[in-house]
Amino acid sequence: MQNLTASARNESLLKSWANSVDKYTKESINETIDQYLLDCLPARDELLSRMEQYGLEQGFPFVGPLAANLLAMLAASINARHIIDLGSGFGFSAMHMARVIPDSGLILCVDDNEENRKTALKYFEEAGVAHKIKYYDGDALDLFKKDESEVDIIFCDINKEQYPEAFKLGWPRIRKGGYFVADNMLWHGRVLTSEDQQPSTQGIRELTRLLYSTANARTVIIPIRDGLSVTLKTA
Ligand SMILES: C[S@@+](CC[C@H](N)C(=O)[O-])C[C@H]1O[C@@H](n2cnc3c(N)ncnc32)[C@H](O)[C@@H]1O
Repeated sequence: MQNLTASARNESLLKSWANSVDKYTKESINETIDQYLLDCLPARDELLSRMEQYGLEQGFPFVGPLAANLLAMLAASINARHIIDLGSGFGFSAMHMARVIPDSGLILCVDDNEENRKTALKYFEEAGVAHKIKYYDGDALDLFKKDESEVDIIFCDINKEQYPEAFKLGWPRIRKGGYFVADNMLWHGRVLTSEDQQPSTQGIRELTRLLYSTANARTVIIPIRDGLSVTLKTA
């Protein structure tokens, strides 16, 4: 893929999201709004543009700039210092948060694909944020056994059938005033139809139920791209 202009990259992002839509859901993505919101974003710097391009070239399901922007804003808004990024891929989501946390902060990343870790670490080095990252190989849920400290934010972007378990393990670890954030909560519209009983869709439905029924949890599902839930721990 040749180097794309920012607007060509936005178009590719929309196409790659639309390609992941299945037969039930074609009408459910609001491409026009996503297009408008992408066009509103300021131009990304050279490194982020390159990461976006890498994700597009690989057909990698990364969160994209709209959701990543929200993650960075949430981290900055609560002066987050300790973050868990579950399903870190080539580091796009973590990069946005790493750039806004202080030098003494730490993001625990985890992914079950060794190649993703290597690629991400190169980007973190290049951005000068590698000292704020610890990146584990292996299953994301095992991370909760390796590290028991309190965290400000958990961002969950792993296999969808594991979402309820990730919340159950992660929620007790989040401090009051911290956030549990999950991507793909609209699952390209699959959650809208009761015909869809795939384990991934069920996982998202169950997490949604948990998010809205847990004590001291205040949740909003933001319908940008594929839907991000943001859950504040209020007590
Ligand atoms: C949707 S991608 C996330 C990318 C990343 N959050 C971003 O937007 O830049 C999901 C990643 O999580 C990994 N993954 C899925 N389930 C996992 C699990 N249970 N443990 C570890 N990694 C997992 C996949 O290999 C993939 O790289």
